[in-house]
Amino acid sequence: MKFHVLTLFPEMIEQGLAPSIIGRAVEKNILSLNAVNIRDFSKEKHSKVDDYTYGGGAGMLLQAQPVFDAWKSVAGDRKVRTVYLTPQGTPFTQKLAAELAKEPELIFLCGHYEGIDERVLEEVVTDSVSIGDYVLTGGELPAMVMIDAIARLVPGVLGNDTSAEEESFFNDLLEYPQYSRPETWHEKKVPEVLLSGDHKKITKWRLERSIEKTKRVRPDLYAKYALKQEIIKKLSKAKRNHIHMIESLSRGLGEVLYYDNDALVIYDRGGETVMLHAGNDSVTEAMYHSIPKEAKLLLVTGAGMARQLEERGYVFICRCSQFLYTAKEPLPVKYKEIRPLTLQDLDYVEEHYDYEDRAYLTERLQAGMMYGAYHENRPVGFIGVHAEGSLGMLYVDPAYRRQGLAASLEAYLINRCIERGWTAYGHVINGNEESKRLQDKLGLYQASNDVYWLGTAEEA
Ligand code: ADE
Repeated sequence: MKFHVLTLFPEMIEQGLAPSIIGRAVEKNILSLNAVNIRDFSKEKHSKVDDYTYGGGAGMLLQAQPVFDAWKSVAGDRKVRTVYLTPQGTPFTQKLAAELAKEPELIFLCGHYEGIDERVLEEVVTDSVSIGDYVLTGGELPAMVMIDAIARLVPGVLGNDTSAEEESFFNDLLEYPQYSRPETWHEKKVPEVLLSGDHKKITKWRLERSIEKTKRVRPDLYAKYALKQEIIKKLSKAKRNHIHMIESLSRGLGEVLYYDNDALVIYDRGGETVMLHAGNDSVTEAMYHSIPKEAKLLLVTGAGMARQLEERGYVFICRCSQFLYTAKEPLPVKYKEIRPLTLQDLDYVEEHYDYEDRAYLTERLQAGMMYGAYHENRPVGFIGVHAEGSLGMLYVDPAYRRQGLAASLEAYLINRCIERGWTAYGHVINGNEESKRLQDKLGLYQASNDVYWLGTAEEA
């Protein structure tokens, strides 16, 4: 991942991040950090980059030309997501950090003085972001805060990949308290349950402490968590038909955009997917207007809703059966050579999987969500978890078919889902009898209702 920072104080960025874990990741070539001095692009005497504001008012403004030229020197003709740090931006959150961590490259633009000429902001900025409701003297500290939060989510930056998953702000809850040796310190004992070795009990205790702490310290976050739990409970009354929405919420992927009794709109920003559900199979105006413009895929639980959305300009893609694996026991996996795919396998995956682009497959590989069957150290098939949570992308080389590899790949992936505490589910396009037979063979249940896939006119 490449970070570029456009700034008047490049040494602040370089020196600020060098001694940290981020600095080490730069040394290991997992990250690159490029601080660009805006002043180097001044065309004026004494490298001046600021001027008075038209219309009067106190303070100076960074001018458009040096900022634009500095940006152009980095972005060239590529489309690079460009973050402008400003107290007027949208609040920085863990969710946004996770979204930005999927980009191959980011540009941060640090303001100074009273700000930057609006015209250049209009041309280069994709995201205006604030790190909090207070005003700092410049955007360098906020850029460093963002880089730190984003970089630690990039695979390989933290030694242990799972540690970024289970922590503060994952799934709207604050982290539970943690303890290390000694068992007693200042007459305070480590809670008994943590010494019990009973992992079920420990998980339950940690969740309870997280809930208790979030309720006390961040009632706003707790309200969000409680609403999701209420919705999950309600959807679970017909678990098979609603599994995609239940999993989206419980895995922390989807946010509730609209909820009114029996009508629900969930948005998964990472997967650019909206899930719509209404007991009466009808999309109200309020539901329709809650759909974000940037959403590319719509998953809908009824034919009536699908028809209404088609009338509104969305394009029908396919009708799918939902299958889910509800047992808690792992499945036997016959083929032994299955392991996570890496970025080195990108060309192989792209060559054999027609439905998604290279950027999507890169992201899935980096997220550790694709697994390959290997023969003599060469991949001969693969499977993965889609961004919105379903199993899919199953492929086996023709020469290796009819040997149970597909079943082994799916069983292996289901087992990884169970380890994560997920319920594995997948969508099978109507008519794909071979895939249906595979789901039956592995013991997955079919939901009674189908899910309809729709896309925006450009995407479908
Ligand atoms: N620049 C000055 N203050 C800021 C803040 N709170 N967030 C982001 N950028 C800023």
